[in-house]
Amino acid sequence: MKLQAVLFDLDGVIMDTAEFHYIAWKRLAEELGIAIDREFNENLKGISRMESLDTILRHGGKADDYSAEEKRDMAERKNSHYVSLLDRLKPADVYPGIRELLLALREAGIPAVVASASKNAPQILRALELSELFRFVVPPDSVPRGKPAPDLFLRGAEEVGAAPEFCIGIEDAQSGITAIKAAGMTAVGIGSEAMLKAVGADVVLPDTRRLSLEFLRGLLSA
Ligand code: BG6
Ligand code: MG
Repeated sequence: MKLQAVLFDLDGVIMDTAEFHYIAWKRLAEELGIAIDREFNENLKGISRMESLDTILRHGGKADDYSAEEKRDMAERKNSHYVSLLDRLKPADVYPGIRELLLALREAGIPAVVASASKNAPQILRALELSELFRFVVPPDSVPRGKPAPDLFLRGAEEVGAAPEFCIGIEDAQSGITAIKAAGMTAVGIGSEAMLKAVGADVVLPDTRRLSLEFLRGLLSA
């Protein structure tokens, strides 16, 4: 089997922006009198800004306390804080192995795609000087459903003319692994083996160090 495309999640796979999202949500939640911790934060990974806010409000028993406009303001407040944390991003912040993998993919003519729920993805890729290494960044609003639905991954594969069964998706979130498997692709998890295998990851690595083109090709020929 021949590898036709690799689809990357961004936050928590390309760099540590998952932590910035957590810090920004925690600050907003505190303003609202809602306590969140890292364990709860796992539920927020991979899902959109507004869905994350709704999940936090439900968690705090405040699901019906705010108008749509108030919720939009809260989401904007969280985003401003998040974007201010991005201020100091630099190319050296890319996780180990990622730039090397992207260069190897380009050399081999295999498209790399970003399939992230984040509307901030293009800005982050620019700051990390990675934009030219991706053939396509799926605009999150271009698909009807976010993760755990397969839409973002299917749209990315379609754009670069790749068949899902010859694609590999890389994710740190349970919702993302579920989305990759629902798209009919091979799923590589980055993070906790127990958590990501539980939702169907084909293989889980503790971090990005061991990700290489050779490793990914080996998964498809296994
Ligand atoms: C996902 C993150 O990639 O993007 C979520 O895992 C985040 O934590 C979501 O909420 C939306 O990101 P943004 O940048 O559009 O608020
Ligand atoms: Mg992620």
